[in-house]
Amino acid sequence: MNKTTLLITFNLLIFACSGGNPNINNFGNKSFNQNNFDSIPIGVAFAQTSNIALLGQEGIDGVKIAEKYFNSKGGIKGQPIKLVFQDAGGDEVGAINAFQNLINRDKVVGIVGPTLSQQAFSANPIAERAKVPVIGASNTAKGIPEIGDYIARVSSSVAIVAPNAVQAALKLNPSIKKVAVFYAQNDAFNKSETEIFQSTVKAQGLDLVTVQKFQTTDTDFQTQATNAINLKADLVIISGLAVDGGNLVKQLRELGYQGLIIGGNGFNTSHIFSVCKALCDGIIIAQAYSPEHPNQINSAFLQAYIQQYNKRPSQVTAQAFTAVQVYVEALESLNQKSPIRDLNLSQLRTKLNQELLSKKYDTPLGEISFTPVGDVVQKQFYVAQLKMEDNGLKGKFQYLK
Ligand code: ALA
Repeated sequence: MNKTTLLITFNLLIFACSGGNPNINNFGNKSFNQNNFDSIPIGVAFAQTSNIALLGQEGIDGVKIAEKYFNSKGGIKGQPIKLVFQDAGGDEVGAINAFQNLINRDKVVGIVGPTLSQQAFSANPIAERAKVPVIGASNTAKGIPEIGDYIARVSSSVAIVAPNAVQAALKLNPSIKKVAVFYAQNDAFNKSETEIFQSTVKAQGLDLVTVQKFQTTDTDFQTQATNAINLKADLVIISGLAVDGGNLVKQLRELGYQGLIIGGNGFNTSHIFSVCKALCDGIIIAQAYSPEHPNQINSAFLQAYIQQYNKRPSQVTAQAFTAVQVYVEALESLNQKSPIRDLNLSQLRTKLNQELLSKKYDTPLGEISFTPVGDVVQKQFYVAQLKMEDNGLKGKFQYLK
């Protein structure tokens, strides 16, 4: 097949996927404003359904606060942004459908999402081919920005964040020697995270006594937990999502494990409280966000969030807010250089991508910028430990010094 045939085939495919709407992709030569957008559409492809809907919701909370906040400040020179939501569900097919709808039907200028790295590896290449910018707000696996030129993220890689948790555990208990590592083998981000944890353990001169595998859909961890306990592990490190990970912690404690436990990025949500309840107490989790970060935009974000939800926001909520902030500030500076009303959609998407990668941002995560490939450059990281009330109903992330 030559290049032209390939292109025609691809376009026919897009045409078929769009339900045969002949107007699809004909935004073409019309400028952005001639298409009667009274607002600038930014796509959001988080999980609204499935087993990761709670994590998806944390992202949705963050982008909604950002939409309200930046529109109240006048949007892009008076033109508001408008978030367009598509449910990406919890798997690859859901994310691919959401991306196709946002790109072809909703004609968004850029996308925030999807929730899981596992989904990003399938859905992001679609945006890359269509030349639509994507900002990951919760994808932390290695290799996400490398998917393509249009793919960036504000969620720091496990390679940078995860080692901080091991160092914090050693500070709390310097006599740790034997480490048991657990990971969900059916999930891209957890596979990526466990590699980092395992190499950190070895680099610290600790003894990696066992590596136990499970699935994110598992509920019974008796065998794996017993293995680690029999090997006398005095530190357990788990890479899993909130429900499976929380159940594993619960079963380890019920079987008598008393040492420290590190949870990976999948544990970074208050939704884990209802899974392991009082037994969540003491779990150590590295953080790419601190609600105490002392800048103006974080104060505004924090205040808006607390007013609405009466609790402190999670890392993913702050990262999702940040992703929208990046789009808004890049659109603003692009608009000053070449008015966006004069650009057609594909020009706008491409110029927006170039602009967003080149700028620095003062965000709730602190000052950030991007590497040439689109990975976030962030200055500060933190470690928190879960502190549960005795009745196990309520808990909080207590930041370690
Ligand atoms: N951090 C998780 C991932 O990247 C949600 O899949």
